Amino acid sequence: MSSEITPNEVKNRNISIPKTGLKADLILDQLLSMKGKDIAWQSGKVLAYVYEPTKETYSLTKEAYTMYLTENALDPTAFPSLLKLETELIAMAANLLGGDDETVGNFTSGGTESIILAVKTARDYCREHKPEITEPELIVGETAHAAFHKAGHYLGVKVVMLPVNKETFKVETEVFESAITKNTIMLVGSAPSYAHGVVDPISEIASLAKSKGLFCHVDACVGGMYLPFAKQAGFDIPPFDFSVDGVTSMSCDFHKYGYAAKGASCVLHKNRDLRKYQIFACSSWSGYTIINPTVLSSKTGGPMAGAWATLHHIGQDGYMKIVKETQKASLLIVEGIQEIPELKIMGDPIMNLVAIESVDPTVNVFAISDGMTARGWHIQVQLASRCASEALHLSINRANVPYIPELLKDLKEVINDIKKKEKPSMDIDIKMFAPMLENMNSETFDNLAEMLGLGGEEGLPDELEFINNLINSLPAKHRNVLLKEFVNKMFTT
Ligand SMILES: Cc1ncc(COP(=O)(O)O)c(C=O)c1O
Repeated sequence: MSSEITPNEVKNRNISIPKTGLKADLILDQLLSMKGKDIAWQSGKVLAYVYEPTKETYSLTKEAYTMYLTENALDPTAFPSLLKLETELIAMAANLLGGDDETVGNFTSGGTESIILAVKTARDYCREHKPEITEPELIVGETAHAAFHKAGHYLGVKVVMLPVNKETFKVETEVFESAITKNTIMLVGSAPSYAHGVVDPISEIASLAKSKGLFCHVDACVGGMYLPFAKQAGFDIPPFDFSVDGVTSMSCDFHKYGYAAKGASCVLHKNRDLRKYQIFACSSWSGYTIINPTVLSSKTGGPMAGAWATLHHIGQDGYMKIVKETQKASLLIVEGIQEIPELKIMGDPIMNLVAIESVDPTVNVFAISDGMTARGWHIQVQLASRCASEALHLSINRANVPYIPELLKDLKEVINDIKKKEKPSMDIDIKMFAPMLENMNSETFDNLAEMLGLGGEEGLPDELEFINNLINSLPAKHRNVLLKEFVNKMFTT
């Protein structure tokens, strides 16, 4: 029996459930030591993945979450308190997002599940009301979240991805209109898009959808708990919610700028008649009757109780205060970047999501990301797409606010360092990979990983510039082949 877990043991598949259970303090010590290698989100220097509430809110959320750890939201008739928590969360979201007495929705595990359910609703509605559509299509801009592609993939709905404006990164409604076919079921707009923090012309998209009898989904996963407060605080926020005629569904995450613990989002529908198509029922098998409004069946009540507690604790005034602080911090970043000649803000971000591109060919954004990582920051990179060049992405949460001057100072210093350093040469010819990528299997990938320095047990190398440049230079089809193989290898058991 091992008293400590090491990477080697995992690789050698030597891990079994211990014969005799271990003491709680030993287990907790091990968990704490494993966490040592994770990104230090408490540093205020992580600009992705984490939406950190105050310590007081954090403690409350944790307590509320664990209070409902064992309760099962599979059956809200057995746990009526969970039904109450869910309906109240949905009412709070609907009230925030221009809903009315007709608006309904459900609590989900995250933005992706909310989006999958919105697409399922449109697909199943059309199956019943437009049976002539046998190959349904969903129209999205290139800036719509990948969750729509996942939804299409899982649900057998074709995703028609269209270019967006190369300056504003917003959907162009005329481009959407020209792509509508007899198979189209839904148009999508983002409020805002994650990549560039810009809001699509929701009124135009919704009006087009209505005129053609189509569903219109507004993805407010990242903006739903933010934009309404920004608007109340006096920022110029275009109409994006159910107040816009033609919007049929929305997604809004509590676990992003609602600062709730993860596993907390919602999907909202214009009315019950539409939501009906979201629900799955099965009473023909031999066990208990299944009636699930969401993807998961058995699920802990923790995220729901955690989100309910968080929203009540922060309150509208609290959200407004956070939004004012993060809007100010975002402006500081935008102004700071404008003073760095090598960099440019992409589009005109409406909230605290900022994409930055390099306008100096000697300064590579992936090298900047490496340089910032070495200085303790965590900044996401975005690969180039048809409409956008490769970029750095900053999601600013309340815990990052005090660190913005340091961020700008470090960015400038890292860029100066890059300009002084000799450039790494791409001494592996991309063309050489083409046959490998066409016939990729585990063995081929292992060889490639070895060549790229990805073969070791320590995970990713510290410097990712070369690998990022390589992936960036490939067409999406080949990028996906490589990335799937990478993840398939990363999970060693
Ligand atoms: C606009 C938008 N939609 C959907 C998602 C997916 O959310 P999740 O990661 O909770 O599934 C995200 C995540 O960042 C997002 O920003």
